Formats: sequence, structure tokens, C-alpha cells
Amino acid sequence: MATEKVLLLDTTLRDGEQSAGIGMTGQEKMEIARQLQRMQVDIIEAGFAASSPGDFEAVSNIAKEVKGPIIASLARAVANDVDQAWRSVEHSERPRIHVFLSSSEIHQMHQLRKNREEVMEMAVTMVERAKGYCDDVEFSPMDATRTNPEYLFQMLSEVIKAGATTINIADTVGYAIPSSAGFGQLLKDVQANVPGIENVVLSVHCHNDLGLAVANSLIAVEFGARQVEGCINGIGERAGNASLEEIIMGLDTRKDHFGVEINADTTQIYGASRMVSRITGMAVQSNKAIVGENAFRHASGIHQDGVIKNRSTYEVMQPERVGVPGNTLVLGKLSGRAGLQSRLEDLGYALSREDMTKVFESFKELADKKREVTDRDLEILMDEEKRTATEPISYTLDHVQFSGGDQDIATATVRLIGPDQKSATDASTGNGPVDAVCNAIDRVIGCECELVDFKVQAVTEGMDSMGSVTIRIESAGKTYTGRGADTDIIVASGKAYLSAVNRMLAADEESNIPAVGTTPD
Ligand code: KIV
Ligand code: ZN
Repeated sequence: MATEKVLLLDTTLRDGEQSAGIGMTGQEKMEIARQLQRMQVDIIEAGFAASSPGDFEAVSNIAKEVKGPIIASLARAVANDVDQAWRSVEHSERPRIHVFLSSSEIHQMHQLRKNREEVMEMAVTMVERAKGYCDDVEFSPMDATRTNPEYLFQMLSEVIKAGATTINIADTVGYAIPSSAGFGQLLKDVQANVPGIENVVLSVHCHNDLGLAVANSLIAVEFGARQVEGCINGIGERAGNASLEEIIMGLDTRKDHFGVEINADTTQIYGASRMVSRITGMAVQSNKAIVGENAFRHASGIHQDGVIKNRSTYEVMQPERVGVPGNTLVLGKLSGRAGLQSRLEDLGYALSREDMTKVFESFKELADKKREVTDRDLEILMDEEKRTATEPISYTLDHVQFSGGDQDIATATVRLIGPDQKSATDASTGNGPVDAVCNAIDRVIGCECELVDFKVQAVTEGMDSMGSVTIRIESAGKTYTGRGADTDIIVASGKAYLSAVNRMLAADEESNIPAVGTTPD
């Protein structure tokens, strides 16, 4: 008998984007979608088309350009959402509409304020509507794990009759328990009590409120789920979604136990994790399984001794399997173009001759300031190159100078190049150097935004490390994220602040677009 396959649905671009405080541009979503394509996930949930015109456009661009995986858009069980979802994915070679509706009494009573019959009717009508557009329709009973089982079975059998081809059991609030008597039993009961379930794909979507999302996803596979949903780095609403890379490596490393096939190219996992972390500004904790900085580092003497003798003593999987680079060539100011190119290729970058020339210049500038240029530095450098090439740029930071100290008032002077290519200089004080730089930028541009989040991260270890800064600003109720990197963190902060301001200015130009609807978990 052929080994059964478990489909992987990545929802980083939809549920992941619902993490508090993050927002991705259409371009950033496309970049992540391309990485997910390289990773060979089966389904990319590209967004929630009806939630905003920006998301509609992002989903629709991904649907047109990303070939291979199924491209899905989420829709509430209302006509406009289903119609928009279809319009956003209709040009994909493999489109999917994903309809969701709350099945639990708690949600129906307090949120939807509708009775069971009304909700049932909505689910059926909207699945039928989606089916009128598209063969591939997923239905999710939201908060399924807190739903009366009889009602859940009835709802699922009705939506299957209406045309749903995937049924996704959503543990929306991370309430399930990963045991045979818990989530396992629910899956068993669904399979035993829902007529037609054997003809559709049974999926699970687990949240991490009790830290059990991956465990629940894996036990679900043991109990018959053949699609699992998750996000890279486990990002998502509240405590996040199941971490897709952990599910993948669980199924891959313990194939002996699960006995199922998956499609993923596991060597693309590390690149995906780094990319999502950089784009969202959400750091990956060092001890995070699979992709954390320490995931393959051995500190104690006993462990090091074992690993030197044989890596399998303390490693259940090899770092290369998840794409962690294991390169030993040191890059620095004496390195040439060929050495740099080869390392960039190892890290998955394919550059034209022209782009390589530009990157080499930036590399030399950095190598002048740093003893050793590491893979992390290169990723940041490439990110900066891409950012400056693709971001809406009204102003660039030409020069920053600051003075201060613990007894003096921090003062900064900045020179910016404006949209008309003319330079403008101004200075300001602040309650610290970063504040002074941001105030000086505000003075040149004549804007007022509130800085709501500021994160600085050393890219590598050591005193000469580059600082990577992520800043979030708020203006007129909207949030904009900016990033910048430099060996000087004050300069990096200025770059990050300006990048957020540029995004705000670009959005102002094309605004007047109201946000639509509420977002699910
Ligand atoms: O958590 C949830 O219930 C969801 C559904 C839309 C699948 O994200
Ligand atoms: Zn969710």
C-alpha cells in the first residue's frame, strides 16, 4: 500500500500576519510566498482578500505569479467575502477558497449573535457559493474544539454535501489536549460520525495558547488528519499558530513513527525562518526548536565530546537538513568577489552581474568596519540592498551626527536627500540619541509620528556586530514598520525610522482606502 501523504498548508501570510503589531507589504508577502514555493509547501494561504484592498492585491499577485502550490484566500461566510476571495485567486493555476464560520455556542451566542440554525444555513449557502466558483473549497468550523460534537458533525456533513473538499478542524483558542482521549478522540469521532468525511481531506489548524499547537497537530496526524496548517516560526494571533517547521521536522525525523509522506524541501526551512523574522521584525528565540540560534549548538563539555565523536549522540537531525549553513570560509576585507559570490549562492541568493557589483561595494564598506563578515551580516546586507531597491523611497539618510552622554543633552543633526534630490539639514535634541535623530528627521520632513516600538538586535556576537533595528510608528491610527542596519546603532535607528516614515508617506498618497471587516484567529 502506498504511504499516505500529509499536505502542508502555510498560513504565515494570513494567520501569521494577524500577530499583534506586524503588517507586511505586498512585496514582502510575495517574497515569503516565493520562499514557501521553494520549500514546496502544498498550499499557501496568501491572505484574507476581503479584509483590505491591499490584502486583495497581495493575494491576487501571489495567485498570478506563484506556481506549484495551491493558493488560498480566506473568506468569512458572507457573500462579499466569498466573491472577493474568488476574484483574488481566480488567476491561480490551483485556486482555493477557504470559508470559515464559528461552530461553538460561545462564539455563536456572544460574537455572531445568531442561533444554530441560522449559522448552519450561512455555512451551507456560502460553501455552495464558493463551490459555484471553484472546485477546491475548504471549510473551517471556527472554535471547533469547544463545539457541541453533535452539532459539529451535522455542520460538517452539511458543508460536505454543499461541496467542501477539505474540512479543517480549528482549535482556534488552543484548547485541545494532545492525547488519544482528547484531540485524538475528536478526530476519531469526526471520522466515525460525519457522512462523506472519507471523501474529503481532514485538516487541523491549531493555536498555541497552552503551548500545545505542534503536539496537537502531530497527534491529529496519528488520528487521520491529512492536512496540517501552521506558520513559519509559529507566529500568529496571541501565542501564535502551530510552528510549521516543527511539524515538518517532527514528521520527517520521526517518519518511523508517523509513517506518512510530506512534500517539503526541508533545506529551505532555515531561509524561510530568517526571512519571516526579518520581514516581521519578530525575533526567533535562541532556544526555539529547529530554527533557534542554539538549536544545533552544544555547550557542555560532555555534549561537545559526544558530538565530536559522532554527531548522532546529541543531534536527532543534522543542521544541514533544515538548511542551517555550515560554512567555514571566513569573509573579511581581503575577500574577493568570487568568495562573496560563492557564499551568497550558498545562502540561496542568485544575483545578476550588475547587482553583484553593487553588493560587492556594500560588502567592502562593511568589511572595512568589521573584522569578519558572517552569514547573518550578509543576510542583513542583502536585505538592506533589497529594501532600498524596492521600498517606497521619498527621503534617504545622507548623514547623521550626534553628541551627548550621561550628563549632556542628546543632540542630533541629520542631512536627508528629499524626493527632489535636494538635501536638507536640521537638528534636534531628544531624551536620548535615537529620540534626537528621530526628532531631527521629523523636523526636516515636517511630520509627526509616534514611535510605538523600537527593537535593536545585534546581528552577530562581538563588539563590532552590526545592529539591526526595527521601528514601528503610528500615525492617524495606522502602524508602519521600518528596518535599518548599520555597525552604528544610532545610524541604523535613523535608517529604520526613515524607512517607516517613507512607508507612511507612500501610504498617505494612495490612502482613502478603508479597512474592511474583522479578522479571524
Ligand atoms: O483559528 C482559526 O479558527 C482560524 C480559522 C479561520 C481557520 O484561523
Ligand atoms: Zn487561526
